[in-house]
Amino acid sequence: MTELILSLDVLDRKEAVKVAESCAPFIDAIKIGYPLVLSSGLSIVEDLADLALPLIADFKVADIPNTNRLICEAVFSAGFDAVIAHGFVGADAARTCVEVAHRHSGAAYIVAEMSHPGATEFFHGGVAENLAELAVSCRADGIIAPATRPDRISRLREIVGSKAIYSPGVGAQGGDLDTVARLVDGVIVGRSIYEAENPGAEAERFSRIRR
Ligand code: C5P
Repeated sequence: MTELILSLDVLDRKEAVKVAESCAPFIDAIKIGYPLVLSSGLSIVEDLADLALPLIADFKVADIPNTNRLICEAVFSAGFDAVIAHGFVGADAARTCVEVAHRHSGAAYIVAEMSHPGATEFFHGGVAENLAELAVSCRADGIIAPATRPDRISRLREIVGSKAIYSPGVGAQGGDLDTVARLVDGVIVGRSIYEAENPGAEAERFSRIRR
């Protein structure tokens, strides 16, 4: 089964909760990043707790090991179940995120390659492959790879094997749902769902990948 993860980049707290509630029966996790946390605070986690869905903190953590540790401790203390971190800061910094996550019985995912057009400027030429290798060596739970480039997902799969691959970029960024769903463990969808007139119905439509 391929998971469907809602990227809840909704700024208004009440609206975010409403969207999450309407999508909840059709999704496997909710990804929350800076847009919602900066507008609503970390306590948004409490508003979503009743949904009993895993919450992924997409903070793309990218600092020295000690600061990464402080960030990840705050993430898991707030009630998140997983964190997304960058690997380009080096194995020591990335490993810190993994260690904190595992100490809290959570998960840590490393960004191997991003999904927007500009990502090719730095992630190509072997960098994404190196980051995927780093994710494996740091014992991360998986990587983030671009739904906009299925060929790149396949290449990164060769490196990470059975580790999870979660993939944003379907819909608004142009990635094709069915193509990507066959290659990854989870598809991350934001705008195509939360900007729809009926987010719940749209989530249900996307949830065909869970069968
Ligand atoms: O709205 P959309 O479906 O494009 O949302 C994709 C989400 O995934 C956004 O929160 C974006 O920041 C995030 N993301 C991404 N590409 C990555 C990593 C994260 O689009 N490589």
